Amino acid sequence: MSIEIIGYGLAQAEKRVTNHDLAKTVDTNDAWIQERTGINQRYFSMTKNTSDLASEAAMMAIQDAKIDPKTIDLILVATITPDGMMPSTASLVQAKCGLNAQKCLSYDINAACTGFVVAMQNAQAMLESGFVSNALIIGAETLSKILDFKDRTTSVLFGDGAGAIIMRKSSSNQMRHYTRSEGDINGVLTSDGLALNPDMKFEHLSSHYLRMQGQAVFRFAVKAIEDVIVNLLIQTKLEINQIDWIVPHQANRRIIEYVANKMNIDLSKFYLNLDQYGNTSSASIPIALSEMKTKGILKEGMRVICIGFGAGLTWGGSYFES
Ligand code: ACO
Repeated sequence: MSIEIIGYGLAQAEKRVTNHDLAKTVDTNDAWIQERTGINQRYFSMTKNTSDLASEAAMMAIQDAKIDPKTIDLILVATITPDGMMPSTASLVQAKCGLNAQKCLSYDINAACTGFVVAMQNAQAMLESGFVSNALIIGAETLSKILDFKDRTTSVLFGDGAGAIIMRKSSSNQMRHYTRSEGDINGVLTSDGLALNPDMKFEHLSSHYLRMQGQAVFRFAVKAIEDVIVNLLIQTKLEINQIDWIVPHQANRRIIEYVANKMNIDLSKFYLNLDQYGNTSSASIPIALSEMKTKGILKEGMRVICIGFGAGLTWGGSYFES
């Protein structure tokens, strides 16, 4: 069975923070960030939580798809920064957007920066099985909630935002996925949750800050991207020159340049907007897709590979025809 994407949307967080702005509070500088990452600025959310950004992106995707919102029967939100432990951010989106109470299933997916790809794969399975007919898939993050601004090695890399797509069955457009994970026993990329409370006191603080071993992540990321491209080309029986766009998770420009060079793929085939947004984890791929659609460079019939990689460790990709 075939699947098509019929709508795209995004939401930017309110506050634009340049590298120069960040350097006023973090021990860093614009030249270092630009040279090591390619990031110029990011957006931080001041008042909107993850479900608010997700809802904005969702409404834009629904309008773009020109469908009756009542026909949406699946809402998936990929996030590592939900509003709370429960209800799910997807359930909050359902309420905030007034979507189909009682006829819709909503839940979150946490596969870190691979979350959006995993959500697309989940949605495809649900659509193909006939359980649902119109799926709203969102990647949304307020990573500023888990940044330690005393840690310059992580706080300069990330930003907030959301992106969304609408997926449904199609008569012709192909969609394929390749997803993998490997238990990270070395704590390469982590954000801790609530502490256990064995003595039933109320003093237990958790350290939810994002921690990362940068060079280990870099080495993992370049292998993961290559693995995804090779495997999706095998699945689709296509050559790389038949792919119009590669939309990678927007983590670091040097990671993409390294892979492009190693695999002899023209860098211009990779869509990059991390200079504007920084790394928005689960949101980076759908933000990029929505931006491409608005710019008119994601044209009908184009062949696209999206690639996610991140904590877990998880990695994976989606091939689709626009
Ligand atoms: N500003 C200024 N100096 C800094 C900063 C900063 N923000 N951060 C580190 N430095 C300094 C270090 O203290 C060190 O100084 P020293 O040589 O005096 O000790 C020097 O810069 C080099 O530090 P490294 O950590 O070795 O820098 P590296 O070249 O490895 O670059 C980076 C760090 C950019 C994080 C790199 O390792 C990287 O890109 N890793 C991949 C990270 C990534 O993409 N993560 C996200 C993917 S997964 C996900 O999305 C959740």
